[in-house]
This record gives sequence, C-alpha cells and structure tokens, in this order.
Amino acid sequence: MTDKIRIGIVGAQFAAEFHADSYRRHPATELAAVAAIPSPEEFAGKWGIPAVYDDYRAMLDREKLDLVSICAPNHLHHDIAIAAAEAGCHVVSEKPLATTVDDAREMRDVCRARGVKLFYGEDWCFAPALRRALSIVDEGGIGRPLYVKAKECHNGTHSPFAKDKKTCGGGCLIHLAIHPIGWVLHALGKQGANKVVQVIGHCNGGLEDNFVHHDNSGEDFALGVMVFEDGSRAFIEGNYITVGGMDDKIEIYGTEGVLKADLTFGSNLTVYSRPGYGYCIEKADTTRGWTKPAVDEFLNLGYVDELAHAVDCVLRNREPAYHAGADLGVACVEIVHAMYRSNEIGAAVAGSWG
Ligand SMILES: NC(=O)c1ccc[n+]([C@@H]2O[C@H](COP(=O)([O-])OP(=O)(O)OC[C@H]3O[C@@H](n4cnc5c(N)ncnc54)[C@H](O)[C@@H]3O)[C@@H](O)[C@H]2O)c1
Repeated sequence: MTDKIRIGIVGAQFAAEFHADSYRRHPATELAAVAAIPSPEEFAGKWGIPAVYDDYRAMLDREKLDLVSICAPNHLHHDIAIAAAEAGCHVVSEKPLATTVDDAREMRDVCRARGVKLFYGEDWCFAPALRRALSIVDEGGIGRPLYVKAKECHNGTHSPFAKDKKTCGGGCLIHLAIHPIGWVLHALGKQGANKVVQVIGHCNGGLEDNFVHHDNSGEDFALGVMVFEDGSRAFIEGNYITVGGMDDKIEIYGTEGVLKADLTFGSNLTVYSRPGYGYCIEKADTTRGWTKPAVDEFLNLGYVDELAHAVDCVLRNREPAYHAGADLGVACVEIVHAMYRSNEIGAAVAGSWG
C-alpha cells in the first residue's frame, strides 16, 4: 500500500456523493475508480476519478484498490462485498449490511476469513451531536439511561430499488429505522455486552395496506421496541409519511436527566425566504418561508467521520470500532428481521442480539 489509500466506489448517485465528498476531505485518500450502471462518466468527471466501469467485477480485477465503498442497492451489498474481499480489498458497506440475515453473516465471515476489514456504515454513530450526547451520558450527566426514543422519518425514498421489497429487503423498517436500531445498539448495547433480548415490530403491510405509498411493496410505516438484558428499552420509528424534510431525532431518559438531539432540524442557521433558495435539508420539498438549512449536512449526519474512521483503520491496520464494524451490521439485520417476524405473528420475539 502507498501512503494514500486507493478507493473504489460502487454506485454513483445519492450515497456515492457523500462517500466521495467525505473521502475527499481525508488527506490520505485517492478516489481511484468508480463502477455503476450505466457507466458513471458524469460522477467520475465531477470528482476527478480517473477509472470508470460499468461492471464492478472488472473494476476489482483491473484496479489495485485498498478499500471499496458499496453505495449500490441493498440486495447487491452481499455479492459486491464478497467479490471485493476475494480481490483482497477492505470493504465499507452502506446500510443495511444486507437484505437477509444469512447474507449479512456470510459477508462478515468471508471478510474475516480473507483477512480484510468490513466496515458497517452507520453514520449516526459518528454524528457529532450524537457523539457529544453519548459523552455526556458516559460522564454520568443524566444518570443511568433507562429509555431511548429514536427515529428516522421522511416523505418517501428517491430510489426505485428501495420501493421494492425484493431489492430493499423490506420497506422503511429496514431502509430507515435501521439507523435508530444501529445507534440504539451503540448507545445502550455496551459494545455487544448488553444484548437485546426481546423485540416487537409493528408495520404497514405494503402496497394497498400502506398509508400513502401504494406503489411500494415494502411498508411505509414501522414502529419497533427493543428490550435490553439490563432492562433498558428503546422505541424506534421509521416512516415515509413525514412531510417537511428528513426528521432524525433521539431522546435519552436517564435516572438523573434527559437528553434530546435533533440531527436534521437542529441547525443554528435560520432563514426566512419569500422566493426560496437552492437546498435546505434532505427531503425538504420547499425552501420558502422559515427554514433551518443544514450548515454541513454530510458532517452533521456523521458520514465524514465514519469514513475517516474507515480510512484511518486501513492506514494503521486497526480493527473497526464496534459501532463501525460487521458485528453491529449483522445485529441490525437480525433485529430488523426479528421485528418483521413479530409483526407477522402479532407477538414479541425473544432472542439475543448485539
Ligand atoms: N447512510 C445513509 O444515510 C444512506 C443514505 C442513502 C442511501 N444509503 C444506502 O446507500 C445505498 C445506495 O443508495 P442510494 O440512495 O445511493 O441509491 P441510488 O438509487 O441513488 O443509487 C444507486 C446506485 O447504484 C448503482 N447500481 C445499481 N446496480 C448496480 C450494479 N449492478 N453495479 C454497480 N452499480 C449499480 C446505480 O447505478 C446507482 O448509481 C443503499 O444501500 C442505501 O441504503 C445510505
């Protein structure tokens, strides 16, 4: 490996933008190649990426990459990660790690067997406001955490693959609520020592059973409960019925205090605009009237530090932190599917996850 790590990105749209931007901010990276369908010339031109492919396997064969970022549809994460690991590359997978529990576990096991690192991209674990929140919890500022509420909600996915249960793995539970699930595991799970022992899931049924999105085969509304071994609980939400911009919030209730964080509407910039302006926050459909535009959305949501952590681990040959690693990613997929099971049978599901 040279002093810069050579990065290949698979996918060239929404998530690929914040991966490219975040890597660009790290001095020890080189954006070496990108693969997407159709061939992503425009994306490569924008980011100055010299090698462009329409087949990620050809990219893996021809480029000597150190790290591959998977920013492709959920059902492809498994095959891309295995191919990258077999080519000797470290891997960053976007959320969810995979669409099925078997695929997620296989990704973890194959990467381990091949001696490459598998990073799970839960950006919330690196969001500055949520890191500060957990540092206050760690110093005892709100006593012992008893209960967490966390949600990611907006008005519907921009990606055709995410509307289809087969290519998404489900609906908004796996696609949005996986963020609060992953972060709650990080916040209450004591790095895997405090297991989730029971979950409850409640969702719409997709298509005609949805509130609003009758063309989505996955659910457009989901709620979940996570019960931890130490008795602490979490209530998580993901839905596509929330208009007005992406709503990412957490609340932590402790024996000595309460802590609340707002990742998306918490900007310290406030604007009143009659004509509107270019961009406010993800999924907001107007910039007229009073708005609170993000100052640095990729930093606020955690992507910049999440990917810097992956680069630093590769550079220094360190294992990912628990909250950036494959075990967390696998546990999230296991919990999501246990919640789907709970929804199906109309009862709580017991297990041991984390
Ligand atoms: N962490 C987050 O907050 C966050 C936000 C958005 C998306 N994501 C995740 O990122 C991933 C991509 O989502 P997105 O929103 O960028 O989707 P998108 O629809 O905007 O882009 C998907 C990209 O995948 C490419 N692609 C499709 N099939 C391919 C193939 N066979 N080989 C190579 N490339 C292929 C497409 O060309 C496109 O560039 C998903 O797993 C999603 O869950 C994460």
